[in-house]
Amino acid sequence: MAATKRGEARPVALVTGASAGLGAVFAERLAAHGHDLVLVARDKARLTVLAETLEVDHGAASEVLAVDLSHATGRERAAERVARGVDYLVNNAGFGTVGEFARLPPQKEIDQVELNVVTLARLTRAALPPMLERKRGRIVNVASMAGLAPGPYTATYSATKAFVISLSESVAEEARATGVRVMALCPGFTRTEFQSRANMRIGHVPALAWMSAEAVVDSALAAIERGEIVHIPGALNRLTREGMRLVPRGLTARFVGAASRKFTE
Ligand SMILES: NC(=O)c1ccc[n+]([C@@H]2O[C@H](COP(=O)([O-])OP(=O)(O)OC[C@H]3O[C@@H](n4cnc5c(N)ncnc54)[C@H](OP(=O)(O)O)[C@@H]3O)[C@@H](O)[C@H]2O)c1
Repeated sequence: MAATKRGEARPVALVTGASAGLGAVFAERLAAHGHDLVLVARDKARLTVLAETLEVDHGAASEVLAVDLSHATGRERAAERVARGVDYLVNNAGFGTVGEFARLPPQKEIDQVELNVVTLARLTRAALPPMLERKRGRIVNVASMAGLAPGPYTATYSATKAFVISLSESVAEEARATGVRVMALCPGFTRTEFQSRANMRIGHVPALAWMSAEAVVDSALAAIERGEIVHIPGALNRLTREGMRLVPRGLTARFVGAASRKFTE
């Protein structure tokens, strides 16, 4: 990604879920590369602190948009801002639930689909027309390794991330040769607040399985510039992906189910 030259208008990046984890790192890296930011999440205080840091560290101007993206009102406010034109969109806000699907609270599953699927699709749809008009733009849709296989005990989460991968692949093809790039990012275990928010027990996950949010984001930002459409950061995650390709999907479901059940125990 080329840094902005002195005197040029700074391009604008909108990052959802910018108050923590991967989103905060995306915002920091994009600011360092010369973008102004639109920071979106629910926690206004955290977004405001981040905005101040980005200004001091990188001279970036930030708009703070404190909205709940699981609900239509917040989603439409964000979509309206995106439709006014952004150069870079990172659809990152998301959460997961773990447990037996039949026993999980229904409203949380619905909120998850609203955030991980409906909002991501809505903002992608809002971003594309002005990007296509200008023949440039980048959309990073944060999926997950979980979207590559069936996910017993993370059923809704895995299904939402499968949607993100499929939508991104399709839209990337539609936008091929337009100057606009769309990429699904599929991280594996990444040290953020994600697991604690999902009440996941993670003691059994080996240390070498984890990546830092910084490593994931740097890998993603480089991958979209290379033209990757589905990016899996980390050699071990890519190896796991290759292993999955060799195993029938039903058997993968067994393996994943046996491993993911431990998140709940
Ligand atoms: N960490 C991992 O191991 C991992 C692996 C694969 C994929 N991912 C994906 O990476 C993305 C980022 O997650 P993370 O790991 O960085 O988790 P995180 O540290 O928990 O951050 C999640 C972000 O999403 C925002 N968010 C959550 N619910 C929201 C809502 N209703 N409206 C607006 N914003 C909301 C949160 O901000 P507020 O609470 O302030 O709203 C926060 O900024 C997610 O899509 C996740 O599925 C994570």
